[in-house]
Amino acid sequence: MKTEKKFGTQCVHAGEAPDASYGAHTTPIYQTSTFVFDNAQQGAARFNGEEEGYIYARVGPNTPTHAAFVDKISSLEGGETGQTFSSGMAAITAVALSQLEHGDHLLSTNVVYGGTYGLFSSILTKFGIEVSFVDTSDHENVKRNIKKNTKMIFLETPANPTMIVSDIEEICNIGRDVGALCVVDNTFATPRFQRPLQLGADVVVHSCTKYIGGHADLLGGVVVGKKEFIESMSSIVNFTGGTMGPLEAWLCIRGLKTLHLRMERHASNAMKVAEFLEAHSKIGWVRYPGLPGHPQYDLAKKQMSGFSGMISFGIKGGIEAGQKLMNSVELCSLAVSLGAVDTLIQHPASMTHANVPGKVRAETGITDDLVRISVGIEEVEDIIADLDQALAHL
Ligand SMILES: Cc1ncc(COP(=O)(O)O)c(C=O)c1O
Repeated sequence: MKTEKKFGTQCVHAGEAPDASYGAHTTPIYQTSTFVFDNAQQGAARFNGEEEGYIYARVGPNTPTHAAFVDKISSLEGGETGQTFSSGMAAITAVALSQLEHGDHLLSTNVVYGGTYGLFSSILTKFGIEVSFVDTSDHENVKRNIKKNTKMIFLETPANPTMIVSDIEEICNIGRDVGALCVVDNTFATPRFQRPLQLGADVVVHSCTKYIGGHADLLGGVVVGKKEFIESMSSIVNFTGGTMGPLEAWLCIRGLKTLHLRMERHASNAMKVAEFLEAHSKIGWVRYPGLPGHPQYDLAKKQMSGFSGMISFGIKGGIEAGQKLMNSVELCSLAVSLGAVDTLIQHPASMTHANVPGKVRAETGITDDLVRISVGIEEVEDIIADLDQALAHL
């Protein structure tokens, strides 16, 4: 009897089958830009959609390597299908450009990755799209900020870097009532800990550069949703060309095979690091969705099955103390990005969110004392010992 496989089994197996040509057990990297047609009629049929199949690596299902990755991530997110991109930003850009036009309104979480903030605030607005950045951690506030022309609600939860959590289910209900598409950036939680489509979202986006790849060795993005939605993006995909490469698609497949194991370790390590930081006399505050003191702790417990590996915290002594800490770590790497097997530490106000105006940062909690840590999968005692010795320098 065929049964739905558990998450970890899907990580290993979903989307993959022995290669049809030679029976290769591992999905091959189809490092090709184009595909040969049997005859001119077949080429025409592929182009006009009468026949499914591969055409050229920028269009359609790209290559069989991309298709296997899309099947795997779609299965993990519980979506019908997906589309890969060269980066998370290319994925978010394609979602926005394919669905919004001049005169439409986009309502976004007010705390989002700096690149997303830049795209929404300075690129989309150039094309006459109205954008509101709203504190979506209060869903009543979302309701209050809906406009007649609201076409899309974009949530980042937990949000980068303040870790605020938004109620996906409540907000998607609001979106559905007004006919607005609900898009969730699930990069921080991953499908291991949060399944936005099950909570009512229409579309999930990821920066694959983070936990999906998992090893800080690729750039990529992916969008997952209904087949109809993915098809509605096809001209933007084809004509803007932010395509993922075959090697990256293969690295994403390999990353996903261990997603369940890595995420469990990221989360258990992060919980211990958060507790260590919370108890440390030189730390002013800690924001981790798994700590009872997190402002949306109950909501995080309701919609997430684990709290992932991202923590933000403030050091007493502000940015100077934070810089001293970041300059003193030895095991942790002072680097932007996140979701890698190794622990990364950075300062959002001067790095990943430096493009967000200072006033907006201050209003939304991206304070100058905020340090963000992406807790890796090393032995947690070593991560804590490194932070402890670095804090001793302050
Ligand atoms: C939550 C989130 N979404 C999207 C992105 C953009 O991803 P990429 O760097 O792959 O373009 C990032 C990058 O840090 C991110 O943190």
